[in-house]
Amino acid sequence: MTYLSPSKLLRIEKALRSVSDVEGDFAEFGVALGGSAILIASQCRARSIPGQFHGLDVFGMIPEPTSEKDDPKSKSRYAAIKSGTSRGIDGQQYYGYRDDLLADVKDSFAQYGLTVGEDGIFLYKGLFEHSWPTVKVNSLAFAHVDCDWYEPVSYCLGAIAAKLSPGGVIVIDDFHDYGGCRNAVEEFLAQNPSYKFEDGANPVLRLEA
Ligand SMILES: C[S@@+](CC[C@H](N)C(=O)[O-])C[C@H]1O[C@@H](n2cnc3c(N)ncnc32)[C@H](O)[C@@H]1O
Repeated sequence: MTYLSPSKLLRIEKALRSVSDVEGDFAEFGVALGGSAILIASQCRARSIPGQFHGLDVFGMIPEPTSEKDDPKSKSRYAAIKSGTSRGIDGQQYYGYRDDLLADVKDSFAQYGLTVGEDGIFLYKGLFEHSWPTVKVNSLAFAHVDCDWYEPVSYCLGAIAAKLSPGGVIVIDDFHDYGGCRNAVEEFLAQNPSYKFEDGANPVLRLEA
């Protein structure tokens, strides 16, 4: 149900614990099959400070990496997906080829006792730049950015930064995997010196408290 390694999931858990006293909602940009989203939504519901979980994705074929700041690895990964030959986790069908991925993800949430649309848990289908402006959120304490390429990572960082509470964190999944993601994060950090970069399998950007 997730492309994240156990060590990346553990870092997310640790980052979530570190914002236990920070006001705001939790968000994930890049849900796919919902594995990391279910972890984040569960922690959101369990914490003492009230807050909602917002998961955003096209819930279909991943958009193309269009920037010259993306690397050849991103472009060849996308070409394989587009050709229809990509395989999913453990040889299953690749999630982007499913007929109704959003319905499947809602079913997966339900298996973990989480009802999408209730319990303060919401999923939004569409391109981030279309869906995020419709999301009602006053502030964020935590965001997971797992969307691979330069343009969406760059967009998400700007959108999150506009809402992140002091002491809040952003976990970046693809910094060490795709050059476009790395470029977007490095540009963001250069323009936003109040964020501390904590490296690791999935680096954490922490806003000064
Ligand atoms: C690597 S997957 C997410 C993996 C997931 N977090 C997990 O636990 O396995 C990246 C997801 O981001 C989505 N995505 C990428 N760019 C997007 C965009 N501009 N708008 C909406 N979704 C996007 C893709 O469709 C894909 O489902």
